[in-house]
Amino acid sequence: MRVGIVQTDPVFGERRRNVDAALAMMEAYSADLWVLPEFFASGYQFVDAREVSGLAEPIPDGPTTQELITFCRAHDCHAVGGLPEASPNGMYNSAVLVGPAGCVASYRKIHLFGLEKRFFLPGDRPFATCDVSGARVGIMICFDHVFPESARSLALLGADLIVHPSNLVLPGLGQRTMAVRAFENGVFAATANRVGSEARSGKELRYTGESQVVGPDGAVLVRLSPNRTEAAVVEIDPSKARDKSLTSHNDKLADRRPQLYTLDLTA
Ligand code: ACM
Repeated sequence: MRVGIVQTDPVFGERRRNVDAALAMMEAYSADLWVLPEFFASGYQFVDAREVSGLAEPIPDGPTTQELITFCRAHDCHAVGGLPEASPNGMYNSAVLVGPAGCVASYRKIHLFGLEKRFFLPGDRPFATCDVSGARVGIMICFDHVFPESARSLALLGADLIVHPSNLVLPGLGQRTMAVRAFENGVFAATANRVGSEARSGKELRYTGESQVVGPDGAVLVRLSPNRTEAAVVEIDPSKARDKSLTSHNDKLADRRPQLYTLDLTA
């Protein structure tokens, strides 16, 4: 399976420009599954709820989801990317996974970061996986990486590959934790991060690039630059994520002792 990562530099609010720039980068390669950044079409730094509702789109009928589907039909591939979702309940920080047949899955970010809490509802649906090109794929978004339960939930659901649309702002941190998440769960992980900066509310956010694909042993298979727009495609063998053994006596999932873990004192 060929996994592509796209590292873009969206201009806030310029949806048409940002989608065209991302698709143009993808045109230059061939991949089975493309991973795009969080909010790749809208930009990240919303300053008020009116801006969010102006850029939020219904899934699957909004233009960004439909344009990704059109690309996937033309190139016989799948793609996952982040967008602000408009729903009857309110707005979510979401990611859609689409392919030639249409929208395959969507995910609403469960762990919101910083001012996202002001504008978005936290995800209200459990982590889930779906099958794409012979791999079981699970979606998480950016700050979800700080919560090991995110990747662990996806691994327990059988994910071979975690796709991770991101707008990472803490240098090197998400890239390091995702290598650990991949190792501890024995999965591939593809993080598509953005570059550039935004200073729309007076506080500058610098996005850290270094989009990457890591293997089930935590090794970095490809890592992009910290500051340039670029893309890369890596061939992975999803079946390598199905052997969770660490030594002849240890298995990363079967050796868990959940009966001894206190994960929720309120339960
Ligand atoms: C983030 O979750 N966008 C840092």
